[in-house]
Amino acid sequence: MEQPLLEVDDLRVAVYSERRGLEATRRGETGSGIRLPGDELELPAGWVQAIHGVSFAVKPGETLALVGESASGKSLIVMGALGLLPAGAVTIGGTTRIEGYEAHIPDVQERSESESLKDRFVRKLLPLRPDAADDPEWRKLVGTRIGVLFQDPIGSWTPDILIGEQTAEVLEEHTDLSKDEIRERVFDALGEVQLPKERKFLSYRFELSRGEGQRAMLAAALIKAPDLLIADEPFSGLDVSVAKAILELIRDMLAQRKMAMVFVSHDLAAVASIADRIGVVYGGRIVEEGPVREVFYRPRHPYTEGLLASIPGLGLDRLRPIVGDAPPITDLPPGCAFAPRCEYATDVCRSELPDPSIRDLTLVSCHRAHELTLRGVRD
Ligand SMILES: Nc1ncnc2c1ncn2[C@@H]1O[C@H](COP(=O)(O)OP(=O)(O)OP(=O)(O)O)[C@@H](O)[C@H]1O
Ligand code: SF4
Ligand SMILES: [Mg+2]
Repeated sequence: MEQPLLEVDDLRVAVYSERRGLEATRRGETGSGIRLPGDELELPAGWVQAIHGVSFAVKPGETLALVGESASGKSLIVMGALGLLPAGAVTIGGTTRIEGYEAHIPDVQERSESESLKDRFVRKLLPLRPDAADDPEWRKLVGTRIGVLFQDPIGSWTPDILIGEQTAEVLEEHTDLSKDEIRERVFDALGEVQLPKERKFLSYRFELSRGEGQRAMLAAALIKAPDLLIADEPFSGLDVSVAKAILELIRDMLAQRKMAMVFVSHDLAAVASIADRIGVVYGGRIVEEGPVREVFYRPRHPYTEGLLASIPGLGLDRLRPIVGDAPPITDLPPGCAFAPRCEYATDVCRSELPDPSIRDLTLVSCHRAHELTLRGVRD
């Protein structure tokens, strides 16, 4: 059987909640009860678990999409798995394996605004393994094999360094290419993503539109010839035609380079066109995971059914938005987090967390998955 390229096991992430912090201070509490693994350090009051034991794997050449409503925890999952969380969020447990290298999370370092994309990427990954700082193989592995498209295509660039120089950094560190050869490679990469290369090489981030920022980030990600692309909402804030063009570019690159991808997106039509597998995220958990066709045509989780029914363009009979709002990820109800919005909920749903179980090709966490026949996309 083919080995996964990326394997994430039991990922747990905590975030700082101002509200919880204030409430705890009023009650005179100082600790959160959350401890960092292998450490006596207790996170202070206000920290609360947001990602609850998420596991997934991506094989070489495969695309896994993570979908779910805003604030369900998608970015925390992908960035937590890579050790790239921003300030205010920290991995409190789990394991990431990249090409067999095992990375023990947590990463407790905070991001510095002036740090370059590459420095941040490499430095944030290093603490995952205790001895990683002295391990050139590991540095090289994480610095060169994974390309990342961050959700904010402008803010992720360092403000005071030219886009071309930032794109070149990874080649400077990990190859023996001359300055001229590196410049040539950066020009090629900018050209590949259809940017005016010389002009954009000499641009600062404030001179880029969002679409250009996303294309430049794609160039910076691809210049390493990565095996895996992490794309966190690569279309956010882009107009429809620009988003479509970037989707086409990503699709071409995946096919040409046989790369794997973790693709976070609200856009289920884009997911249907690009992904092999899909993970549906609700309340900081993956509640359903399986091959895209299986999940779209035969959803097993009521939330997936609701998500499919609320999105235009999927060939469903009629649009039916899911009633109610998702609970804040930092304040979930007991039992199944979807219960307050679920038309199939029973008493057990409101008190007990459902365990994941396998239904045909799908892994699903729902007490009633064995008995429900849900509506999916029509042929
Ligand atoms: N850096 C942070 N500090 C504190 N809380 C955070 C932080 N990042 C995320 N959170 C909390 O976790 C929730 C989920 O965040 P996340 O960014 O993972 O959502 P998402 O599913 O990626 O949403 P979107 O689709 O809008 O990008 C947020 O609503 C917030 O409550
Ligand atoms: S466990 Fe119950 S509340 Fe949750 S999705 Fe299943 S039926 Fe609905
Ligand atoms: Mg996000």
